[in-house]
Amino acid sequence: MGGISGDRATTECVHICCLKNIEKAGGGFGQALSFYFMDDHQFRQLLQHLGLSWPGYRKVRRGVKKRIHRHMQHLGSKNMSAYLRELGKSDDARHECERLMTVSISRFFRDRKLWEVLEKEILLRLIEKQGDRIEAWSAGCGCGEEVYSLKMVWDRVMTSIHHSPELEITATDMNPIYLERAKTGVYGYSSLKEVSGRFLSTYFRTKAGDKLFAVKDLQKKGITWQIHNLLLDPPGSHFHLIFLRNNLLTYYQEELEKPAFRKVIDCLSAGGFLIIGSHEKVPFESDDLRATGSLSYVFQKYA
Ligand SMILES: C[S@@+](CC[C@H](N)C(=O)[O-])C[C@H]1O[C@@H](n2cnc3c(N)ncnc32)[C@H](O)[C@@H]1O
Repeated sequence: MGGISGDRATTECVHICCLKNIEKAGGGFGQALSFYFMDDHQFRQLLQHLGLSWPGYRKVRRGVKKRIHRHMQHLGSKNMSAYLRELGKSDDARHECERLMTVSISRFFRDRKLWEVLEKEILLRLIEKQGDRIEAWSAGCGCGEEVYSLKMVWDRVMTSIHHSPELEITATDMNPIYLERAKTGVYGYSSLKEVSGRFLSTYFRTKAGDKLFAVKDLQKKGITWQIHNLLLDPPGSHFHLIFLRNNLLTYYQEELEKPAFRKVIDCLSAGGFLIIGSHEKVPFESDDLRATGSLSYVFQKYA
Protein backbone atom coordinates (compact mmCIF):
# COMPACT_ATOMS: atom_id res chain seq x y z
CA MET A 1 0.00 0.00 0.00
CA GLY A 2 2.16 2.85 -1.30
CA GLY A 3 4.86 2.37 1.36
CA ILE A 4 2.54 2.79 4.32
CA SER A 5 3.43 0.32 7.03
CA GLY A 6 0.58 -1.75 8.44
CA ASP A 7 1.78 -1.09 11.98
CA ARG A 8 1.90 2.67 11.79
CA ALA A 9 0.47 3.71 15.10
CA THR A 10 -1.35 6.85 14.15
CA THR A 11 -4.54 7.29 16.06
CA GLU A 12 -7.05 8.32 13.42
CA CYS A 13 -5.22 8.04 10.12
CA VAL A 14 -8.03 6.34 8.31
CA HIS A 15 -8.59 8.40 5.19
CA ILE A 16 -5.38 8.93 3.26
CA CYS A 17 -4.86 10.31 -0.22
CA CYS A 18 -1.81 8.82 -1.85
CA LEU A 19 -0.49 11.72 -3.90
CA LYS A 20 2.23 9.71 -5.60
CA ASN A 21 -0.34 7.32 -7.00
CA ILE A 22 -2.51 10.19 -8.14
CA GLU A 23 0.43 11.62 -10.08
CA LYS A 24 1.24 8.23 -11.62
CA ALA A 25 -2.35 7.73 -12.60
CA GLY A 26 -2.42 11.17 -14.13
CA GLY A 27 -5.42 12.15 -12.07
CA GLY A 28 -6.31 15.45 -10.52
CA PHE A 29 -7.70 15.78 -7.03
CA GLY A 30 -11.19 15.15 -8.41
CA GLN A 31 -10.10 11.64 -9.41
CA ALA A 32 -7.97 11.03 -6.34
CA LEU A 33 -7.08 7.41 -5.78
CA SER A 34 -8.01 7.32 -2.15
CA PHE A 35 -7.91 4.42 0.23
CA TYR A 36 -8.47 3.78 3.86
CA PHE A 37 -5.89 2.51 6.26
CA MET A 38 -7.08 0.95 9.51
CA ASP A 39 -4.44 0.00 12.02
CA ASP A 40 -4.89 -2.74 14.62
CA HIS A 41 -5.62 -0.24 17.34
CA GLN A 42 -8.65 1.03 15.42
CA PHE A 43 -9.72 -2.49 14.51
CA ARG A 44 -9.60 -3.44 18.20
CA GLN A 45 -11.77 -0.43 19.02
CA LEU A 46 -14.36 -1.86 16.66
CA LEU A 47 -14.07 -5.35 18.18
CA GLN A 48 -14.52 -3.87 21.64
CA HIS A 49 -17.57 -1.95 20.49
CA LEU A 50 -19.15 -5.13 19.12
CA GLY A 51 -18.10 -7.46 21.98
CA LEU A 52 -15.83 -9.48 19.67
CA SER A 53 -12.53 -11.10 20.54
CA TRP A 54 -9.09 -9.95 19.33
CA PRO A 55 -7.45 -13.41 19.67
CA GLY A 56 -10.29 -14.82 17.54
CA TYR A 57 -9.92 -12.20 14.80
CA ARG A 58 -6.14 -11.71 14.85
CA LYS A 59 -5.32 -14.21 12.09
CA VAL A 60 -8.27 -13.34 9.85
CA ARG A 61 -8.24 -9.58 10.34
CA ARG A 62 -6.89 -8.64 6.92
CA GLY A 63 -9.94 -9.71 4.94
CA VAL A 64 -12.36 -8.47 7.59
CA LYS A 65 -10.69 -5.03 7.67
CA LYS A 66 -11.08 -4.74 3.90
CA ARG A 67 -14.82 -5.37 4.13
CA ILE A 68 -15.19 -2.87 6.97
CA HIS A 69 -13.17 -0.29 4.98
CA ARG A 70 -15.70 -0.55 2.18
CA HIS A 71 -18.58 -0.16 4.61
CA MET A 72 -16.93 2.92 6.12
CA GLN A 73 -16.55 4.40 2.66
CA HIS A 74 -20.16 3.62 1.85
CA LEU A 75 -21.31 5.42 5.00
CA GLY A 76 -18.86 8.27 4.45
CA SER A 77 -17.13 7.64 7.78
CA LYS A 78 -13.66 9.16 7.67
CA ASN A 79 -12.32 7.49 10.76
CA MET A 80 -13.18 4.85 13.34
CA SER A 81 -14.81 7.28 15.76
CA ALA A 82 -17.15 8.49 13.02
CA TYR A 83 -17.89 4.89 12.02
CA LEU A 84 -18.72 3.87 15.59
CA ARG A 85 -21.04 6.87 15.83
CA GLU A 86 -22.84 5.72 12.64
CA LEU A 87 -23.24 2.23 14.09
CA GLY A 88 -24.76 3.76 17.21
CA LYS A 89 -27.23 5.83 15.18
CA SER A 90 -28.49 3.24 12.71
CA ASP A 91 -29.61 -0.36 13.36
CA ASP A 92 -29.20 -1.12 9.66
CA ALA A 93 -25.58 0.04 9.68
CA ARG A 94 -24.88 -1.95 12.84
CA HIS A 95 -26.43 -5.12 11.40
CA GLU A 96 -24.51 -4.75 8.18
CA CYS A 97 -21.29 -4.26 10.12
CA GLU A 98 -22.00 -7.38 12.21
CA ARG A 99 -22.67 -9.34 9.04
CA LEU A 100 -19.44 -8.10 7.47
CA MET A 101 -17.52 -9.22 10.55
CA THR A 102 -18.54 -12.86 10.05
CA VAL A 103 -15.92 -15.28 8.78
CA SER A 104 -16.99 -18.31 6.75
CA ILE A 105 -13.73 -20.31 6.64
CA SER A 106 -14.62 -24.00 6.71
CA ARG A 107 -14.23 -27.25 4.82
CA PHE A 108 -15.89 -30.63 4.57
CA PHE A 109 -14.93 -33.02 7.37
CA ARG A 110 -12.98 -30.34 9.21
CA ASP A 111 -11.32 -32.13 12.18
CA ARG A 112 -11.26 -35.50 10.49
CA LYS A 113 -11.14 -37.53 13.70
CA LEU A 114 -14.47 -36.06 14.81
CA TRP A 115 -16.29 -37.48 11.80
CA GLU A 116 -14.84 -40.93 12.43
CA VAL A 117 -16.03 -40.79 16.04
CA LEU A 118 -19.46 -39.59 14.89
CA GLU A 119 -19.76 -42.45 12.41
CA LYS A 120 -18.40 -45.22 14.63
CA GLU A 121 -19.81 -44.14 17.98
CA ILE A 122 -21.90 -41.05 18.61
CA LEU A 123 -24.58 -41.45 15.95
CA LEU A 124 -25.02 -45.13 16.86
CA ARG A 125 -25.39 -44.24 20.55
CA LEU A 126 -27.95 -41.56 19.69
CA ILE A 127 -29.95 -43.86 17.45
CA GLU A 128 -29.97 -46.56 20.14
CA LYS A 129 -31.25 -44.08 22.72
CA GLN A 130 -33.60 -41.94 20.62
CA GLY A 131 -34.96 -44.49 18.20
CA ASP A 132 -36.68 -43.14 15.13
CA ARG A 133 -35.84 -39.47 14.96
CA ILE A 134 -32.68 -37.49 15.67
CA GLU A 135 -32.81 -33.71 15.70
CA ALA A 136 -29.55 -31.89 15.11
CA TRP A 137 -28.65 -28.20 15.11
CA SER A 138 -25.70 -26.84 13.20
CA ALA A 139 -25.30 -23.44 14.87
CA GLY A 140 -23.35 -20.92 12.79
CA CYS A 141 -23.21 -23.34 9.87
CA GLY A 142 -21.45 -20.97 7.44
CA CYS A 143 -21.74 -22.11 3.83
CA GLY A 144 -22.96 -25.60 4.75
CA GLU A 145 -19.82 -27.76 4.68
CA GLU A 146 -20.44 -29.02 8.24
CA VAL A 147 -24.13 -29.71 7.53
CA TYR A 148 -23.52 -31.78 4.42
CA SER A 149 -20.63 -33.61 6.11
CA LEU A 150 -23.12 -34.72 8.75
CA LYS A 151 -25.61 -35.83 6.10
CA MET A 152 -22.93 -37.91 4.37
CA VAL A 153 -21.72 -39.57 7.56
CA TRP A 154 -25.35 -40.25 8.48
CA ASP A 155 -25.83 -41.92 5.11
CA ARG A 156 -22.81 -44.16 5.83
CA VAL A 157 -24.28 -45.13 9.20
CA MET A 158 -27.62 -45.99 7.57
CA THR A 159 -25.89 -48.61 5.44
CA SER A 160 -24.64 -50.37 8.58
CA ILE A 161 -27.90 -50.70 10.57
CA HIS A 162 -31.15 -52.52 9.93
CA HIS A 163 -33.69 -49.73 10.30
CA SER A 164 -33.90 -46.18 8.93
CA PRO A 165 -34.31 -43.51 11.59
CA GLU A 166 -34.76 -39.95 10.39
CA LEU A 167 -32.24 -37.16 10.76
CA GLU A 168 -33.61 -33.63 10.83
CA ILE A 169 -31.08 -30.82 10.74
CA THR A 170 -31.74 -27.20 11.64
CA ALA A 171 -28.90 -25.27 10.06
CA THR A 172 -28.61 -21.65 11.13
CA ASP A 173 -26.37 -18.67 10.51
CA MET A 174 -26.70 -14.92 11.00
CA ASN A 175 -25.30 -14.22 7.52
CA PRO A 176 -28.00 -14.71 4.84
CA ILE A 177 -25.42 -14.70 2.04
CA TYR A 178 -23.63 -17.72 3.54
CA LEU A 179 -26.98 -19.48 3.95
CA GLU A 180 -27.81 -18.94 0.28
CA ARG A 181 -24.46 -20.47 -0.69
CA ALA A 182 -25.13 -23.35 1.66
CA LYS A 183 -28.52 -24.05 0.09
CA THR A 184 -26.95 -24.02 -3.37
CA GLY A 185 -24.36 -26.54 -2.18
CA VAL A 186 -21.66 -25.90 -4.79
CA TYR A 187 -18.01 -25.87 -3.70
CA GLY A 188 -14.52 -25.44 -5.05
CA TYR A 189 -11.77 -27.97 -4.48
CA SER A 190 -10.33 -26.07 -1.48
CA SER A 191 -13.44 -26.98 0.56
CA LEU A 192 -13.08 -30.65 -0.35
CA LYS A 193 -9.46 -31.41 0.47
CA GLU A 194 -10.44 -33.88 3.17
CA VAL A 195 -13.10 -35.67 1.12
CA SER A 196 -12.08 -39.13 -0.08
CA GLY A 197 -12.47 -40.11 -3.74
CA ARG A 198 -15.24 -42.51 -2.80
CA PHE A 199 -17.23 -39.81 -1.01
CA LEU A 200 -16.65 -37.39 -3.89
CA SER A 201 -18.11 -39.75 -6.45
CA THR A 202 -20.98 -40.87 -4.21
CA TYR A 203 -22.21 -37.53 -2.90
CA PHE A 204 -21.16 -34.89 -5.44
CA ARG A 205 -21.52 -34.25 -9.13
CA THR A 206 -18.96 -32.15 -10.95
CA LYS A 207 -19.75 -28.84 -12.60
CA ALA A 208 -17.93 -26.26 -14.71
CA GLY A 209 -15.55 -28.76 -16.29
CA ASP A 210 -14.66 -30.51 -13.04
CA LYS A 211 -13.74 -27.26 -11.28
CA LEU A 212 -16.79 -27.19 -9.01
CA PHE A 213 -18.54 -29.89 -7.02
CA ALA A 214 -22.29 -29.84 -6.35
CA VAL A 215 -23.81 -31.77 -3.46
CA LYS A 216 -26.34 -34.26 -4.85
CA ASP A 217 -30.02 -33.45 -4.22
CA LEU A 218 -30.58 -36.47 -1.99
CA GLN A 219 -28.13 -35.01 0.54
CA LYS A 220 -30.13 -31.78 0.68
CA LYS A 221 -33.21 -33.45 2.11
CA GLY A 222 -34.15 -33.04 5.79
CA ILE A 223 -32.32 -29.74 6.26
CA THR A 224 -34.07 -26.54 7.37
CA TRP A 225 -31.93 -23.47 6.71
CA GLN A 226 -32.70 -20.51 8.93
CA ILE A 227 -31.30 -17.06 9.62
CA HIS A 228 -30.56 -16.93 13.31
CA ASN A 229 -28.29 -15.03 15.66
CA LEU A 230 -26.60 -17.19 18.28
CA LEU A 231 -26.82 -14.41 20.83
CA LEU A 232 -30.63 -14.70 20.80
CA ASP A 233 -32.94 -17.55 21.85
CA PRO A 234 -32.19 -20.87 20.13
CA PRO A 235 -34.23 -21.96 17.09
CA GLY A 236 -35.70 -24.96 18.92
CA SER A 237 -35.48 -27.06 22.05
CA HIS A 238 -34.46 -30.63 22.87
CA PHE A 239 -31.89 -31.07 20.14
CA HIS A 240 -30.09 -34.42 20.35
CA LEU A 241 -26.94 -33.20 18.66
CA ILE A 242 -25.56 -29.67 18.47
CA PHE A 243 -22.58 -28.43 16.47
CA LEU A 244 -21.26 -25.16 17.85
CA ARG A 245 -17.92 -24.97 16.12
CA ASN A 246 -15.63 -22.08 15.29
CA ASN A 247 -18.03 -19.24 15.95
CA LEU A 248 -19.37 -18.23 19.39
CA LEU A 249 -16.40 -19.66 21.33
CA THR A 250 -13.79 -18.20 18.99
CA TYR A 251 -15.00 -14.79 17.89
CA TYR A 252 -16.87 -13.40 20.92
CA GLN A 253 -15.83 -11.88 24.22
CA GLU A 254 -16.78 -13.66 27.43
CA GLU A 255 -19.62 -11.28 28.30
CA LEU A 256 -21.55 -12.28 25.17
CA GLU A 257 -20.21 -15.82 24.95
CA LYS A 258 -21.25 -17.08 28.39
CA PRO A 259 -25.00 -16.33 28.35
CA ALA A 260 -25.30 -17.48 24.73
CA PHE A 261 -23.46 -20.72 25.55
CA ARG A 262 -25.84 -21.34 28.48
CA LYS A 263 -28.80 -21.06 26.08
CA VAL A 264 -27.17 -23.59 23.78
CA ILE A 265 -26.73 -26.11 26.61
CA ASP A 266 -30.32 -25.53 27.70
CA CYS A 267 -31.72 -26.58 24.35
CA LEU A 268 -29.71 -29.82 24.28
CA SER A 269 -31.78 -32.80 25.40
CA ALA A 270 -30.63 -35.04 28.27
CA GLY A 271 -28.18 -37.57 26.84
CA GLY A 272 -27.59 -35.32 23.81
CA PHE A 273 -24.15 -34.41 22.44
CA LEU A 274 -22.53 -31.01 22.00
CA ILE A 275 -19.57 -30.62 19.66
CA ILE A 276 -17.37 -27.53 19.77
CA GLY A 277 -14.30 -26.65 17.68
CA SER A 278 -11.19 -28.76 18.28
CA HIS A 279 -9.25 -25.68 19.46
CA GLU A 280 -12.07 -24.21 21.53
CA LYS A 281 -12.82 -24.37 25.25
CA VAL A 282 -16.17 -24.21 27.01
CA PRO A 283 -16.44 -20.82 28.76
CA PHE A 284 -17.47 -22.29 32.13
CA GLU A 285 -17.73 -25.61 33.93
CA SER A 286 -21.27 -26.89 33.90
CA ASP A 287 -22.60 -29.70 36.13
CA ASP A 288 -24.78 -31.04 33.36
CA LEU A 289 -22.11 -31.17 30.66
CA ARG A 290 -19.22 -33.66 30.59
CA ALA A 291 -16.53 -34.44 28.03
CA THR A 292 -17.14 -37.87 26.64
CA GLY A 293 -15.04 -40.38 24.73
CA SER A 294 -11.64 -39.77 23.24
CA LEU A 295 -12.15 -36.21 21.98
CA SER A 296 -11.86 -33.31 24.40
CA TYR A 297 -14.28 -31.21 22.36
CA VAL A 298 -17.25 -33.60 22.39
CA PHE A 299 -19.61 -33.30 25.39
CA GLN A 300 -22.66 -35.13 26.59
CA LYS A 301 -25.44 -33.62 28.67
CA TYR A 302 -26.49 -35.32 31.88
CA ALA A 303 -29.68 -34.05 33.45
C1 LIG B 1 -15.82 -20.05 10.63
S1 LIG B 1 -17.50 -20.35 10.23
C2 LIG B 1 -17.75 -21.92 10.98
C3 LIG B 1 -18.59 -22.83 10.13
C4 LIG B 1 -18.74 -24.23 10.71
N1 LIG B 1 -19.45 -24.19 11.97
C5 LIG B 1 -17.39 -24.89 10.87
O1 LIG B 1 -16.92 -25.04 12.01
O2 LIG B 1 -16.75 -25.26 9.89
C6 LIG B 1 -18.30 -19.25 11.41
C7 LIG B 1 -19.76 -19.02 11.09
O3 LIG B 1 -20.41 -18.57 12.28
C8 LIG B 1 -21.34 -17.59 11.91
N2 LIG B 1 -21.62 -16.71 13.06
C9 LIG B 1 -20.78 -15.89 13.71
N3 LIG B 1 -21.42 -15.26 14.70
C10 LIG B 1 -22.69 -15.70 14.68
C11 LIG B 1 -23.85 -15.41 15.45
N4 LIG B 1 -23.83 -14.51 16.46
N5 LIG B 1 -24.99 -16.03 15.14
C12 LIG B 1 -25.05 -16.92 14.13
N6 LIG B 1 -24.01 -17.23 13.35
C13 LIG B 1 -22.83 -16.63 13.63
C14 LIG B 1 -20.68 -16.84 10.77
O4 LIG B 1 -21.62 -16.14 9.98
C15 LIG B 1 -19.98 -17.96 10.04
O5 LIG B 1 -20.79 -18.47 9.02
